[in-house]
Amino acid sequence: MKMTEEIMEVWSGEILKNLQRATDIFEVEISCPFDTKRFSPGQFVSIAPLAQESVMSRPFSISSVHDSSFSILIKTIGKNTDLLSEMQKEQIKVWGPCGKGNPITDLRFDELWLIGGGIGIAPLVFFNKVFSDYEKECRSGRGRVRVFYGSQSEEDLDFNLFPADSVEYSTDDGTFGSPGKITELFIKEIEMIRSKKITVVTCGPNIMMRQIARICKHRDVPCFVILEQPMACGTGICLGCSVKMKSGMKRICKDGPVFPAEEVIWDELT
Ligand SMILES: Cc1cc2nc3c(=O)[nH]c(=O)nc-3n(C[C@H](O)[C@H](O)[C@H](O)COP(=O)(O)OP(=O)(O)OC[C@H]3O[C@@H](n4cnc5c(N)ncnc54)[C@H](O)[C@@H]3O)c2cc1C
Ligand code: FES
Repeated sequence: MKMTEEIMEVWSGEILKNLQRATDIFEVEISCPFDTKRFSPGQFVSIAPLAQESVMSRPFSISSVHDSSFSILIKTIGKNTDLLSEMQKEQIKVWGPCGKGNPITDLRFDELWLIGGGIGIAPLVFFNKVFSDYEKECRSGRGRVRVFYGSQSEEDLDFNLFPADSVEYSTDDGTFGSPGKITELFIKEIEMIRSKKITVVTCGPNIMMRQIARICKHRDVPCFVILEQPMACGTGICLGCSVKMKSGMKRICKDGPVFPAEEVIWDELT
């Protein structure tokens, strides 16, 4: 299995755009001084603390890349995300790319299913772009990409992220798309699959990913999960994000955050 890893850079990035996309969800575009082709789906950047009382940097998945900038999707849940959502044309300290990226480059499948819950959709936007481009260029032998995007309610969904024909939505309160949890939609769809080879990448609440991983294991479908743990250094040095996995202790920030689902001991995650 090929995992990409890059040398990390530290820079002062300018916030080029900051757009509200849904309730509490903002898309923040940040300038980047090096070639953004170095970013790989699954990788993240760390942003130096913005709130005076915060000590640790804040990690955010890379959701899209442009010529000399990239975007993150943030959900405002606290001091730093609140401040970030209000910034325009200001400079912030950024380091990245952090973590290992895309682990599925060498896999062959008929369909890639990207399953995101809430803000867990952020890294999957980048996966979708990269693998949809492969598909268009017909150079991979891979099939189409399908996105399953679940949220609590319609107002939490960002409708700008995916082409309408590649995404299926669910809302817990039934206000848009399939009513109920995204896992219910996933189960319904996977039960209809007979001979196609599916590969799954999922990101969202642990309870959601755990259930998806269990179903994939049962059906012999390769599944990759993008994990979040509280982080301190974000660079692999402090061991603060280490988690026991089946093959030993792993640092989520350095050895992940993308892992084969069968590696994960779910009860070990916070
Ligand atoms: C590898 C990785 C990638 C991430 N990618 C994204 C992303 O693309 N978009 C995004 O919006 N967020 C992402 N996060 C989470 C993001 O880093 C946190 O939301 C952010 O650090 C919160 O900072 P804050 O100061 O605003 O909130 P704080 O004031 O630090 O926290 C507010 C409340 O939220 C809780 N909280 C903090 N972090 C998390 C978390 N990771 N999960 C659940 N609850 C948390 C705290 O316990 C507290 O109760 C990612 C995290 C990791 C580890
Ligand atoms: S946060 Fe320091 S090793 Fe991962």
